[in-house]
Amino acid sequence: MCFDAEVTLKGRVLIIEDEKSLALACRSILEEHGHHVQHCLKGREGLSLLQQDDFDVLLLDLRLGDMDGMQILEEAGRMNHSAYIIIMTAYSTVPNALEAMKLGAFDYLTKPFTDDQLILCVRRAVEKKRLVQENARLKRELVDRYAFSNIVGENPKILEVFQHIQRVAPTDCTVLICGEHGTGKELVARAIHAHSRRASEKFIAIDCSTLSPSLLESELFGHVKGAFTGATQDKAGIFQIAGNGTLFLDDIANLSLEIQGKLLRVLEAKEYKPVGASEFRTTEAGVISATNKDLRSLAAQGAFREDLLYRLDVFTIFLPPLRERKDDIPRLAYHFLQLFCRKMSKHIEGFTEDALEAMVNHPWPGNVRQLKNVVERIVIMIDQALVDLSTLMDHLETRRRWSYARIPRTLSELKSFKKVVLREHYDGVEKLFLLQALREHGGNISKAAQAVGMQRSNFSALMKRHHIPTSFKRSSSV
Ligand SMILES: Nc1ncnc2c1ncn2[C@@H]1O[C@H](COP(=O)(O)OP(=O)(O)OP(=O)(O)O)[C@@H](O)[C@H]1O
Ligand SMILES: [Mg+2]
Repeated sequence: MCFDAEVTLKGRVLIIEDEKSLALACRSILEEHGHHVQHCLKGREGLSLLQQDDFDVLLLDLRLGDMDGMQILEEAGRMNHSAYIIIMTAYSTVPNALEAMKLGAFDYLTKPFTDDQLILCVRRAVEKKRLVQENARLKRELVDRYAFSNIVGENPKILEVFQHIQRVAPTDCTVLICGEHGTGKELVARAIHAHSRRASEKFIAIDCSTLSPSLLESELFGHVKGAFTGATQDKAGIFQIAGNGTLFLDDIANLSLEIQGKLLRVLEAKEYKPVGASEFRTTEAGVISATNKDLRSLAAQGAFREDLLYRLDVFTIFLPPLRERKDDIPRLAYHFLQLFCRKMSKHIEGFTEDALEAMVNHPWPGNVRQLKNVVERIVIMIDQALVDLSTLMDHLETRRRWSYARIPRTLSELKSFKKVVLREHYDGVEKLFLLQALREHGGNISKAAQAVGMQRSNFSALMKRHHIPTSFKRSSSV
């Protein structure tokens, strides 16, 4: 990196040196080279100057009348200052200077030193500080520029979410993100991480609903060799792997009560025990959790620990379902259209007005993820320049065939799954039935209703239930 020499070399320097003639000589040499210099003869006074003002460099004598230089260095280390410290030392005390460097000093000058040695050493310190500042500034700028750029939305509720992210990220507070499936919980967790002091560390997401309790426990906390059959060697858990980074626990409502207890201990005492271990280990990882369930009612039913809920619920961010931020739907649709066109080297200009209107009025039970998937499938499938209503409707339907990735775990889950599948399939066929009739009659509702043997009012009511716009027009068959 290259700096403007004029700007770079003009540092703010503090000299703490009890030998007045040396202090004055250093001051005048440095001032000749454009630095702003202050000096003092006493250690205590020097420390308070360091605290009050923003110095780039501290030139510190190791042997002072009132205080030992080492002591100053230690006290300075506990203070909030950003000066680079250069130790001035007699030849016989060089080992002390090396010791001082271990305590955080930047460099040392052995007395007697020449003007050039002094100038060079101070210059290196000022340059180093500028470099570090510049890097931090660029990194901040990058974070500001990119951390939100992938979260599309201008709805007031989303703008509020952005504000919450900015407010909570610099704190080390435990964050809970609530929202239906596909509303962007992980995206928000990543943005919090990107704005936090942990930004350059790892971000690890774990879905608590996909593993059995015993596997999850070993995944989170690790295990020691011999902890259970098959544990042939120690395994690190993600609390260890995350280091100083962020751990994102998705679908937290699915944790067993036992693991909830262990998680509470991590959040409260920052310690955990790997499976089979006798000693606790510590962790510095930050925790963000997410849920699509109402944890309060789960706590009331005894399925979620109340103490954990209070610990998680320090700062909660609510992500509204897509149907409650309809104004963002066109923005999101275009964002995904451009994204997938770029990926697949396709050129699709946009959506017809009625297609956009239908998207805005669709309930999107799978939220932004569903919208993203629908747009992706459309980009894969079509070659025309505009996405029209009919194409959109076709692709909205296929979601149902693709959506059952999760296998039920209990009989009651299986039964409710059966109900949902039957209803959704029936709904799907019902909607296709309406669309087919409409297509065959050029979108004329009265004719379509009559052809299938229904009252016009009933046919219209069903269209409304399926969010089929009354402006639907298409003559081709399904
Ligand atoms: N506001 C948004 N802007 C752009 N993309 C978004 C937005 N919200 C969500 N997405 C995209 O939608 C998909 C789902 O988001 P994400 O995985 O964050 O949701 P989630 O709430 O964690 O879902 P689940 O509850 O199923 O885990 C992702 O591909 C994400 O990039
Ligand atoms: Mg998620």
